[in-house]
Amino acid sequence: MYRSHTCGELTLANVNEVVTLSGWVQKVRKLGGGMTFVDLRDRYGITQLAFSKDINADLYEQSNKLGREYVLQVTGKVQERSSKNMNISTGEIEIIVDKLVILNSSDVPPFTIEDETDGGDDLRMKYRYLDLRRTPVRRNLELRHKIAFETRRYLDDRQFLEVETPVLVASTPEGARDFVVPSRMNPGEFYALPQSPQLFKQLLMVSGFDRYFQIVKCFRDEDLRADRQPEFTQIDCEMSFVNQEDVLDMFEGLTKHLFKVVKGIDIPDFPRMTYAHAMKYYGSDKPDTRFGMEFVEIKDLTTGKDFVVFDSAEYVGAICAKGAASYTRKQLDALTNFVKRPQIGAKGLVYVRYEEDGTLKSSVDKFYDQEDLKKWADRCQAEPGDLILVLCGETEKTQIQLCELRLEVGGQLGLRDKNVFSCLWIVDFPLLEKDEELGRYFAKHHPFTSPKEEDISLLDTDPGAVRANAYDMVINGVEVGGGSLRIYNSQLQNKMFKTLGFTEERAQEQFGFLMNAFKYGAPPHAGLAFGLDRLVSLFAGLDSIRDCIAFPKNNSGRDVMVDAPSVIDKEQLDELHLIVDIKED
Ligand code: AMO
Repeated sequence: MYRSHTCGELTLANVNEVVTLSGWVQKVRKLGGGMTFVDLRDRYGITQLAFSKDINADLYEQSNKLGREYVLQVTGKVQERSSKNMNISTGEIEIIVDKLVILNSSDVPPFTIEDETDGGDDLRMKYRYLDLRRTPVRRNLELRHKIAFETRRYLDDRQFLEVETPVLVASTPEGARDFVVPSRMNPGEFYALPQSPQLFKQLLMVSGFDRYFQIVKCFRDEDLRADRQPEFTQIDCEMSFVNQEDVLDMFEGLTKHLFKVVKGIDIPDFPRMTYAHAMKYYGSDKPDTRFGMEFVEIKDLTTGKDFVVFDSAEYVGAICAKGAASYTRKQLDALTNFVKRPQIGAKGLVYVRYEEDGTLKSSVDKFYDQEDLKKWADRCQAEPGDLILVLCGETEKTQIQLCELRLEVGGQLGLRDKNVFSCLWIVDFPLLEKDEELGRYFAKHHPFTSPKEEDISLLDTDPGAVRANAYDMVINGVEVGGGSLRIYNSQLQNKMFKTLGFTEERAQEQFGFLMNAFKYGAPPHAGLAFGLDRLVSLFAGLDSIRDCIAFPKNNSGRDVMVDAPSVIDKEQLDELHLIVDIKED
């Protein structure tokens, strides 16, 4: 028997019991005067081991030679500690060791394996297996397990079947680049790794599976950000004989269930916001609704006062930062620099301070008098003590810039508390998005998303105005999931491909199997997929989804621990029929 207990469970109730523990040495503290304490760690906690020269001189000698991360097995009696640590559950006891077995020694680890570590990002990723010994990192994975487990429970209770779909597939058009895998047995041909199991889950509906889900790895070769990994996990779902309300109810229910059982939080019903509303008032299709500060259009109030910048702008938009009139000149300059950064690209920032005494002080006092500014303030529902910030320019561009400004100011004012959760649905997305450079339309969600019945006729005349039966779930400004009602009629699907510029041959070549399947009684169906990594990182309050993935990739898409991607042997390349120009040394 390696252990009778874990390192996280002994308390005063166990005093005088003889126990056996196994774990890693976190720290050795030599107190002098013949006493040494060792913190022994396992997944469950830390227990203090006491070695006393007076009680056992041999063991005491041995304990002084232990290094960090040695693996030990110890047996001894539980005793009440004289100086207690009430921060940990085992902090009131220690073990007086009378048997010590060194199960394994360890090299000195490259960083300290404690809650607060001295290891930088790169080092911790290279030695991720050591980083994973740290409690905060392990907790994220425990949380991930709990969310995945509760998801399965919830969906299983509702007749969803988990079905595995293939990983070696043909390319699916989800908008990102594919990772491809050469086929040895089919020279010159490639599999693609799935960007999502979209087509397979639709085929499962044709097969009559009715309710499908899968917690599944997806692969997308796109530029990486804090909320994107090249391989990530979806909670992928599909249902038959449902309308949009049925789908939203089901997955709003799942999200509420997860908040309740994992975090003990009751989340109210999710509001629904149209895409058009989100863009107009938040400049984003994933608005952070933990706080208000919606956009207010004031173009009409600003024209005709000789301020050319506003006069010539298509759009003049304001946000009202409550209680921020006390912002100093320095803070306002910093905000101006923030919006002028190339990533945001605004030309400048106009502000109006609504002073406590009721006067309005602006950066454009030359053009606008108190009466003018009062009109702006009234439309923004500003009160004394508030700060109004104004940007102008082309409508869409400016709304996106104003969105960044709103988030920045919201953050500065402490309105983006990670312990507050604001969930909503964004609905009525446009079906298509025009690529101005290429002069053609792309599906905003994917080509299998159905247009709104009443907009179908616009497909021929004004494709950009067609709305889709598509929806996203947004929490705290993060798109955690998205889906749609699908097209299940081959004619409409054909029309959609045509609108997207597919020739009949190409549509047949890429999606012939789906079109064929639709000829054999496809039921009305719909679904959605959650990004599991994003959901977990929101629950855990993390800044990057990397922190809830056991073995993530870095920002260049590399796994620095196993050193992937890597060069492969010439023989292997030959076998795969890949012609590359390798320079011999
Ligand atoms: P979509 O492309 O919107 O829809 O993806 C669904 C959800 O997956 C998450 N996600 C990602 N998470 C981490 N890293 C990435 N690179 C990444 N890309 C996407 C997001 C997103 O909301 N087949 C459709 C779903 C459907 O229509 O049913 C799909 O994949 O949280």
